[in-house]
Amino acid sequence: MAKTDKKLLRDGGPAARIAVIPGDGIGREVTPEAVKVLRSVASAGERQIELVEFDWSADKYLREGISLPPGAVEMLRDEFDAILFGALGDPRVPSNQHAADILLGLRFKLDLYVNARPVELLHERLTPLRDRKERDIRLIVFRENTEGLYVGVGGFFKKGMPEEIALQEDVNSRKGVERIIRHAFDYARRHGLKRVCMSDKSNAMTFAHDLWQRVFKEVRQEYPQIDSRHLYIDTLAMEIVRDPSQFDVIVTCNLFGDIISDLGAQLAGGLGLAPSGNIHPGRTSLFEPVHGSAPNIAGKGIANPLGSVLTSAMLLDFLGWTREAAAVHDSVKAALFNNYLTSDLGGDKSTVAVGDWLAERVARFNP
Ligand SMILES: NC(=O)c1ccc[n+]([C@@H]2O[C@H](COP(=O)([O-])OP(=O)(O)OC[C@H]3O[C@@H](n4cnc5c(N)ncnc54)[C@H](O)[C@@H]3O)[C@@H](O)[C@H]2O)c1
Repeated sequence: MAKTDKKLLRDGGPAARIAVIPGDGIGREVTPEAVKVLRSVASAGERQIELVEFDWSADKYLREGISLPPGAVEMLRDEFDAILFGALGDPRVPSNQHAADILLGLRFKLDLYVNARPVELLHERLTPLRDRKERDIRLIVFRENTEGLYVGVGGFFKKGMPEEIALQEDVNSRKGVERIIRHAFDYARRHGLKRVCMSDKSNAMTFAHDLWQRVFKEVRQEYPQIDSRHLYIDTLAMEIVRDPSQFDVIVTCNLFGDIISDLGAQLAGGLGLAPSGNIHPGRTSLFEPVHGSAPNIAGKGIANPLGSVLTSAMLLDFLGWTREAAAVHDSVKAALFNNYLTSDLGGDKSTVAVGDWLAERVARFNP
């Protein structure tokens, strides 16, 4: 697909080209269900969608020694609008090398600096918190996705000796901090949300997070209509459990975002339901359920596909197909209300049965 076609799509045009990477374990079971739902809603909405599958996985790595093939990043960047990803991780690859190459490789090389993790309670019975309604838990965490403690800068000194020293550097660039904070404010403004909370640990991390403080104070001036505040990450962890209704948008660094968004996922029903996006606005971006490859249940046909299906709704939203995204989102809510669910959520349906039910439901979508 030529770049101009990609531009056309992002302006709400007719066609989309999606790379599908099911990966390992239950990624190979839930991703086909999300694809089924995507095809169904696209067809109901009279949208052209082309889905191209790639077999990058532990199997391929063990068979051919290839994780991310040469040229793959450029191909995804130039020929696809988005990537639907399952999960990577296989006990036969204890180093998880293929997962690091593929997932971290794509995050860094496609410069997917926004990790968007919505936390939305879709049915009140799903939260472990007492007396909370759906409206009380509806927020989004933006985690910086390309810097911080995840860049792999560090080293060992005297490794294996009693006096060993291990160093891991926290890398924060002015550009990196500014673009994720700005993204959080822009998102709030676009979606009519009133509150943005930046979280760091600037009282202890007096260099790296001093930069976050200074950039936050600067950027917030440009959004006077938004109520912005700062919380230290330890306070945020307490407050999000005590009263999640006080948050709309949270923005934080890579490590804290990793942790706080998992905490959030649990408040809204757990791993089986949590979607995420690795985004560079205006460029090819990658969407994946939060859960991993779950080797303990892989191959049994019982994995919950709702996280992957909600992920595909995020992907549709990214394409600008907001009505289709809403239809997919509503179908998941309907499955929860009709108790048409896999066993992790108390149902007795198989992965495929839930996918079929959702696909049938979105097929009735009227654009
Ligand atoms: N983005 C990714 O690809 C990603 C993310 C997390 C973990 N992993 C990898 O996945 C492998 C397993 O990791 P883990 O066990 O810590 O995490 P996991 O998310 O795979 O599983 C944690 C628990 O949640 C359950 N679970 C997860 N998703 C579910 C679903 N859709 N339906 C029903 N139950 C579900 C599992 O059965 C397991 O009991 C590891 O190799 C890990 O590195 C990959």
